[in-house]
Amino acid sequence: METGKRNWEKFGKEDPYYWVTTDSKYKDCDLTEDVRKDFFESADKYLDSLFQVIRTHLDPTFSPQRAFDFGCGVGRITIPLARRCRYVFGVDVAESMIAEARKNCKEQSLDNVQFSTQIKSLSPDVEAFDFVHSIYVLQHLRVKQGLHTVTQLIDLLKENGTGMLHLTYHSHKTMKKKIIYWLCVHVPLFNGLNNIRKGKPFSVPMYEMNDYPLNRLFRVLRQKQCDHLYVRYTRDSSYDGVMLFFQKKRAGSGDFISLGDVP
Ligand SMILES: C[S@@+](CC[C@H](N)C(=O)[O-])C[C@H]1O[C@@H](n2cnc3c(N)ncnc32)[C@H](O)[C@@H]1O
Repeated sequence: METGKRNWEKFGKEDPYYWVTTDSKYKDCDLTEDVRKDFFESADKYLDSLFQVIRTHLDPTFSPQRAFDFGCGVGRITIPLARRCRYVFGVDVAESMIAEARKNCKEQSLDNVQFSTQIKSLSPDVEAFDFVHSIYVLQHLRVKQGLHTVTQLIDLLKENGTGMLHLTYHSHKTMKKKIIYWLCVHVPLFNGLNNIRKGKPFSVPMYEMNDYPLNRLFRVLRQKQCDHLYVRYTRDSSYDGVMLFFQKKRAGSGDFISLGDVP
């Protein structure tokens, strides 16, 4: 099994609600009813704001029917998304996360959500999506795999479809921490020894964080005809990130205000 998948399976089995947020208030699988409610309500508020941003900056008529949530985890965003859309497809590398997401859908009586561990398991004739979404996921993929995933996600979008992909592009870690991080990722057993140094069990898997080169991302978006772009910055502990909002719409293909030849 590939390392990333193995690590996320373990996170999903041991403490899924904590690992999808890394918020200590969710650190314990037996969440009380109130904490569970808070978990989904905060995602609901997030989606309200997200839709508002899209309607203000990209598409005033935004009201997606078919949505795709990449790296859906336990369904934190997938579930409130399913209340707003006719159909939602959630993909996550970890079966253990998907099992919890399915349980949550059942508890909330939702039958318009499907899950898979792979993007490519969609049949080619499947109806395209009008919204693709991913938050706190691409940062955990190596850049090459992440960029490939971005192209796959854009390919799932209909013409005029909208995307919001979050990723990180800069870490504020000290050089010493960056070196330790690199050794943890690339040198066998180093992560375990580092865990012990920090007083944690040897077996806690590596929580990978990767910086994306924004120039390469912008090229992908351009090549895939996502010319309509809006960016919001994020800062999460020591990581700078961006939320890239885009519409698959070529410049000159409709309601763009052309700048003509820029003087
Ligand atoms: C920090 S969690 C975020 C989950 C969810 N997006 C949320 O905000 O609640 C990252 C999720 O990405 C999933 N993931 C990691 N690598 C992945 C990959 N290569 N393909 C699909 N999902 C992946 C993990 O299993 C995990 O559920």
